[in-house]
Amino acid sequence: MSAPRARPSAAALQAVLALLERHHGIGARGASPAWLAQRLERALAQLGEAHRLGPERLAGWLAAEPTELARLAELLRVGETRFYRDAEQWSAIAALARARPLSACASVGCSTGEEAWTLACVLAEQREDQRWRVVGMDRSAHALAIARRAHYSSEALEALPSALKQRSFHRTADGAWTPSAALRARVDFVERDLTQGPPAGRWDLLLCKNVLIYFGAQAQARAIQRLLGALGPEGLLLVARSEVPLLRAHAGRAVELAGGVVGFHGRAEARSGSE
Ligand SMILES: C[S@@+](CC[C@H](N)C(=O)[O-])C[C@H]1O[C@@H](n2cnc3c(N)ncnc32)[C@H](O)[C@@H]1O
Repeated sequence: MSAPRARPSAAALQAVLALLERHHGIGARGASPAWLAQRLERALAQLGEAHRLGPERLAGWLAAEPTELARLAELLRVGETRFYRDAEQWSAIAALARARPLSACASVGCSTGEEAWTLACVLAEQREDQRWRVVGMDRSAHALAIARRAHYSSEALEALPSALKQRSFHRTADGAWTPSAALRARVDFVERDLTQGPPAGRWDLLLCKNVLIYFGAQAQARAIQRLLGALGPEGLLLVARSEVPLLRAHAGRAVELAGGVVGFHGRAEARSGSE
């Protein structure tokens, strides 16, 4: 029988959480702190065993081993995503794309690509000129590999309106659905951590949905300022509905789009129509 694993003390857990928040945003004040603590404790026990380190030494070791810290962040990752998640938001984005050029757009925290490819489908339908691009960004190399390959099941594409699916996807020999070459030419994926800010650029549209809820309070505040600061003159940041109060609390300038969907302007660039 193997000896029971030593459990990390509350102080040791806090020290690791502080590192995770500083380098990857992850925080105990996110959506479900208890869940995070349980997963973290399990992951640290495995790590300690694999590297023969007692729980109290793990934070010091992780501080000197950024690759291991990133691996730990990956173990804690929540990657849930769907095509056409929140249909009303997508209708609002389509209306926005008809009203003004959305040339530089990004999905920040794009996970396995469903959000970035949905955005590309919506823009392709609204913008005949094809002068737009979408960047999907995530800190997970594993998720990005799936996003780039972009082979999805019929079930995964179920919520995507069939006109968008027929226009922009085709079937592969193994029965998966994959984006057309024309769509692929307009979409890139980059590995980057949001604690470093979104990719450089003046963005017309930034989607950052269901990412900030998993951040600690300080990392949230910094990430929100960076997202708002990366918007172009009429740029908009859209978050998940559950994250809208968070943006309001950080003084994002809200604007109501079609269907009551709320977006946020960068500070200096807030336009008329703001609430
Ligand atoms: C729950 S998924 C949301 C996916 C998609 N935005 C959606 O709403 O369907 C959260 C994603 O955010 C990514 N993420 C979390 N923290 C991040 C960070 N600090 N930098 C970049 N990506 C991050 C995770 O890797 C994960 O793929």
